[in-house]
Amino acid sequence: MLTLGVNIDHIATIRQARRTTEPDPIAGAVLAELGGADGITAHLREDRRHMQDRDLYILRKTVATHLNLEMAATDEMVAIALDLKPDYVTLVPERREEVTTEGGLDVAGQQERMNAIVDQLQSADIPVSMFIDADNAQIDASKQSGAKFIELHTGQYAEAKGEIDRAKELAILDQGCQYARSLGLRVNAGHGLTYLNVYPVACIDGMEELNIGHTIIARAAMVGLERAVRDMKLAMRGQL
Ligand code: PXP
Repeated sequence: MLTLGVNIDHIATIRQARRTTEPDPIAGAVLAELGGADGITAHLREDRRHMQDRDLYILRKTVATHLNLEMAATDEMVAIALDLKPDYVTLVPERREEVTTEGGLDVAGQQERMNAIVDQLQSADIPVSMFIDADNAQIDASKQSGAKFIELHTGQYAEAKGEIDRAKELAILDQGCQYARSLGLRVNAGHGLTYLNVYPVACIDGMEELNIGHTIIARAAMVGLERAVRDMKLAMRGQL
């Protein structure tokens, strides 16, 4: 059955905007699990712009479902992953100046390095997922690396303008998923999925897990705002 990994990075983004303690992504993970999340996903970026090391170590102790650590393929992050032991690692490309992850990981262009990193992590019983575009050369390279999973980058599908383009991007994702599965890879997908565009991706045969963040945190801010203002009015009257 298709599962949902909730990416809680943007709870930490709000906290880091004030360098304070609220909202705490740990509490967010608990609530996401209460809401039915099948997994919790967090990206520890090199610049620590949202999640902090402390968050990951607490999540490792508190997440009751599974913890997916998204990280760049760097020695620093590999050392953290080996110490943290998340349930799986998703390797993503990372550039300091980007607003969010742009494009998939170029596994084919750095095959030997990727093989070595996958080997280091999987030898420590941490399955690895490669966040890649639905491109056969990248899927082949991911298979060759020994990674157990790929995560198909759904950004181009999410940004497609109009029905024809969207259908084209969806077909590319479907083809990528079927090709990867024919090689024995397990397939996840994510990036840019929303309440409006998720369903066709969820219907792709063989898809295992969708990792979704921004749209869920955005909706939470909206659906929770009315209650939050009411609570503040009560607090102002000493009635909370
Ligand atoms: N999957 C990966 C590998 C990502 O890097 C991200 C963004 O951090 C997501 C999924 C979630 O994307 P979004 O926040 O757009 O739902």
